Amino acid sequence: MNILGIETSCDETAAAVVCDANVASKRVLSNVVFSQISEHIEYGGVVPEIAARAHLHYIRPTVERALSEANMTLAEIDGVAVTSGPGLIGGVLVGVMVAKAMAIAQNKPFLGINHLEGHALTVRLTHDVPYPYLLLLVSGGHCQFVAVEGLGRYRVLGRTLDDAAGEAFDKVAKMMDIGYPGGPAVERLALTGDAERFVLPRPLIGRKDCNFSFSGLKTSVRTTLQKGAVVTDQDKADLAASFQKVVGDHIVDRTKYALSLVDERYQHLVVAGGVAANKYLRGRLAELAEKMGRAFVAPPLGLCTDNAAMIAWAGLERFKAGFTSDLNISPKPRWPLESLGE
Ligand code: KG4
Ligand code: ZN
Repeated sequence: MNILGIETSCDETAAAVVCDANVASKRVLSNVVFSQISEHIEYGGVVPEIAARAHLHYIRPTVERALSEANMTLAEIDGVAVTSGPGLIGGVLVGVMVAKAMAIAQNKPFLGINHLEGHALTVRLTHDVPYPYLLLLVSGGHCQFVAVEGLGRYRVLGRTLDDAAGEAFDKVAKMMDIGYPGGPAVERLALTGDAERFVLPRPLIGRKDCNFSFSGLKTSVRTTLQKGAVVTDQDKADLAASFQKVVGDHIVDRTKYALSLVDERYQHLVVAGGVAANKYLRGRLAELAEKMGRAFVAPPLGLCTDNAAMIAWAGLERFKAGFTSDLNISPKPRWPLESLGE
């Protein structure tokens, strides 16, 4: 099967072709991501109206490039999969309308895919990870533990009580004025910083659950800055490293608890979403998994942040399982993973 995937739910206009001639040959034939960072940078975050217009502008060349890099015409595609939520509705609408139009024009099967399911299943495109597995989904909009029991069967074990992890990275970077998007900027700066320099509070210590909280930590970074303790570039690097370390401590502590909630069939700990691109955090999770006798698996960095290969792959799994969507589906701004099995 050759599946065309389209993703427009946030600030990346993306299209990809993924194929799977047999189980051993699953492959990404093309993966085109047009990042709109330069259009949002002066606002320090994604502006939904600007994003929607940019998607409209870039969607056609992006899809055309994905097809040509895969050396394929639309006629050779076996199905079209598109993010139909959750996300910024203006952008999702653009992707869904284009995907529907192509499916109708070429008389191809069509599937609306949940963006979070795309992140959740990516690892099965790049690695041989069988169901079930424990997933830590950490992105700009979401932060949750999911017991992935099978295709479309997701049980959320814990989630953030306030900000998502990526949101905390972005806000801290904005406060420190070190760039956007914040995650990569903080990670880069932290490389030269002393993570023990600033003592920041570890959230939810001792709580017997696997929820997250980042707002207190964020406030203490703000207080540290307001006290005038951060003057030199080295001070900034130290604060970035101290913040990232506490995020790591918090994630490790919560993951330990989440692992205690799943049985021995769950042999893999998987991390996905934009924050999963953070090498420091990946290292901390790998260390923990090894200690707890689980295999740690993470998709390659480029497939952690938003992309369309993950949407094409989720589409491929679903087409193979016999799912298709009605052409009259509407995009959903909110669409929890748990509701997919209903
Ligand atoms: O999955 P994603 O691309 O979009 C959403 O669906 O949210 O995630 C974007 C988020 C942003 O908050 C960004 O700052 C964060 O992922 N991120 C990182 C890193 N790369 C991206 N956070 C920490 N370290 C990184 N290297
Ligand atoms: Zn995402």
